[in-house]
Amino acid sequence: KVGMNVQDLAKLLHRDATEIIKKLFLLGVVTNQNQSLDEDTIEVLAADYGIEAKQKEEEDVADIDRFFDDETINEEALEPRAPVVTIMGHVDHGKTTLLDYLRKTNVTAGEAGGITQHIGAYQARLNDKLITFLDTPGHAAFTEMRARGANVTDITVLVVAADDGVQPQTIEAINHAKAAGTPVIVAVNKIDKEGANPEQVMNELMAHDLVPEEYGGDTIFVQISAKFGKNVDQLLEMILLEADVLELKADPTQPARGSVIEARLDKGRGPVSTVLIQQGTLHVGDPIVVGNTYGRVRTMTNEKGQDIDAAKPATPVQITGLNEVPLAGDRFIVMADEKTARAAGEERAKRAREEVRNAGSVVTLDTLFNTM
Ligand code: GTP
Ligand code: MG
Repeated sequence: KVGMNVQDLAKLLHRDATEIIKKLFLLGVVTNQNQSLDEDTIEVLAADYGIEAKQKEEEDVADIDRFFDDETINEEALEPRAPVVTIMGHVDHGKTTLLDYLRKTNVTAGEAGGITQHIGAYQARLNDKLITFLDTPGHAAFTEMRARGANVTDITVLVVAADDGVQPQTIEAINHAKAAGTPVIVAVNKIDKEGANPEQVMNELMAHDLVPEEYGGDTIFVQISAKFGKNVDQLLEMILLEADVLELKADPTQPARGSVIEARLDKGRGPVSTVLIQQGTLHVGDPIVVGNTYGRVRTMTNEKGQDIDAAKPATPVQITGLNEVPLAGDRFIVMADEKTARAAGEERAKRAREEVRNAGSVVTLDTLFNTM
């Protein structure tokens, strides 16, 4: 398989071929100069000379995760990027209201007109600084994405209603944020309501290691009313402050890579996916591998449904041109050409099918819960 004969090996080891043949004879292998040797024989022989024989590892076209290695980043090209924020909290504590308020008042492309589309993420702006919000609140999306290795969130905003306090899903959200290693900013919501008790929320959260600055901790608390927009700008300010501390940067000069936020099949346009660019710049026409599928970016639009040609890190965009619908949390990477993208995508799809087949048909409680 290796295609190396005794003579080649002799040269490589700086030995005489007859010496090799003799050694092999002592090992019980009868050979001549032109006989090709198998991998095991070469290994044993090399070990005898105190050398570890290793076949040069072939590049695995299907392994796109290697491109997410920090080593591939060019330090000199790093530029500040917008923080990526996920809003979490207990049922009815006001996540959607907050996102809606932000969208109505702060969405960036507003200046140029257009109607807000739901693409699963959008950017808000405060004093010319951008913040990317993932528009899929709820722990399921967050957990699902993390399960696929997509750790896209930089900051978690925890919404807690001041008239309801810490509830089971509040605690769940705290644990998710902890597991993901993201800092938490607490938005104590509904302070306009009668019976609102923000102090109580603070006290309850301290039991979960979220200690406000005035009590010697380092968690930022902002008291807001999502419904009336009270202090929402202050919340954005705090997010930007936290982002400054994190010194978020990305290299826009590379081929783009990132993660899928959400995806679906559109009757007319085929697979439509919202992706978040994490490194590099994505262009229309780029050949791309996404999860177990591939394609070429045919169209790219922002949250206002406006066509754009290029998108930089931390920008969410909706793209078409993939062969299949990817999954939330799938990673994508732009390839050198369409042929390579296709090869990688097909190989990944093949492996995924094999994995399913190998997993067999045994249903355990675990698999049941995972598919629920
Ligand atoms: P789920 O998606 O079901 O988990 O809930 P949610 O967290 O998205 O809550 P949502 O934004 O839907 O708000 C729930 C209810 O609280 C709605 O009736 C909102 O109008 C109300 N609400 C949200 N924020 C405020 C607020 O700041 N003040 C008042 N008075 N009501 C609010
Ligand atoms: Mg909601």
